[in-house]
Amino acid sequence: MSDGTVETIPDWRTLVARQRPPWPDEARLGEVVAGLAALPPLVTPEECDALTSDLARVAAGRAFLLQGGDCAERLDDVSVPAIERKLGLLRKMAAILGLPVVTVGRIAGQYAKPRSWPTETVDERTLPVYRGDAVNGSGFSEAERRPDPERLRRVYDASKYTVDVLRGGMFVSHEGLLLDYEEALTRRDPRTGRRYAGSGHLLWIGDRTRQLDGAHVAYFASIANPIAVKLGPTATAEHALALIDRLDPDRTPGRLTFVVRLGARRVRDLLPELVEKVNASGASVCWVSDPMHGNTFQAPSRHKTRRFEDVLAEIAGFLEVHRALGTHAGGLHVELTGEDVTECVGGGLAFEDLHRNYTSPCDPRLNTGQALELAFLVADMLR
Ligand code: PEP
Ligand code: CO
Repeated sequence: MSDGTVETIPDWRTLVARQRPPWPDEARLGEVVAGLAALPPLVTPEECDALTSDLARVAAGRAFLLQGGDCAERLDDVSVPAIERKLGLLRKMAAILGLPVVTVGRIAGQYAKPRSWPTETVDERTLPVYRGDAVNGSGFSEAERRPDPERLRRVYDASKYTVDVLRGGMFVSHEGLLLDYEEALTRRDPRTGRRYAGSGHLLWIGDRTRQLDGAHVAYFASIANPIAVKLGPTATAEHALALIDRLDPDRTPGRLTFVVRLGARRVRDLLPELVEKVNASGASVCWVSDPMHGNTFQAPSRHKTRRFEDVLAEIAGFLEVHRALGTHAGGLHVELTGEDVTECVGGGLAFEDLHRNYTSPCDPRLNTGQALELAFLVADMLR
């Protein structure tokens, strides 16, 4: 990105940061963040540039992106075997897909969640909502739900440990939601003078924080990492074009990925206009399908779940639209785990199974068997 462009975008700190937790002690937050700013970043500019090059191949139709991991990582679940199971699962899926695959974990930093409501009511008791282990605890008590800035340091330590275990095995990514944390780990590359987020190779902007006048878009415009934006059903083609102008003014191949999560029922209606107009503008972005977030519903048992069939159907629709338009269906963004959980139905699990091993504090993930089955089915669709 040219320096001239950076100058025209306001500092993110002067804009509204949606989803910012109500930190009860801003002074303590400032101290924790200052401590983080003195620590080494978790990834290097060279690694981030290497991912941009790989994603340029995706944008050009010569590779496929497989991005996956937990909806929300848990600080207490970080261990060598658990990390290696996730890495092993993603690698197996990549091998099954049978194309040149760029593998990116949704891991080593995926600790903050955007939420639809600030509070949650259970049995007539209302408490602040759980916002991810980076912010508060998932237990339903006053103390657990109080945002605690010390958690940001624990997120750094857990993410560093994870990156060290993964080292070299795969790129890492997370939603760049907590801008105080992201800014603290952002460093200027002495080689080029460009700023890089040091918390992960690829960061994305969620569907709830992609407003053009918001702090997230301004922060992301200021970093040189490869970045992604989630586009839900309310995203218009005009919005996508404006995001390209703001986030990828130089049209750098591999810089910008659109992760579309429109729902199995709407993807065929909504995706063509987005792809056509972006294509007509001459921009080159990676198009990736998140077939999870548009297909969430409540099971009779009240568990948040997704149907394996809906996940597949959204992918099928996504591939069909690209095939019809002659554009490249660039990849998949999925919530999965290397553990034997029971969170999504179909692919071997019924509603009655959900209670057996439902451990996600947030969205339901594909388990190992479901994820591998998905890879085989998608490999067939891609042939
Ligand atoms: C997520 O990826 O967990 C998420 C919240 O997605 P979205 O921003 O697309 O709703
Ligand atoms: Co999720």
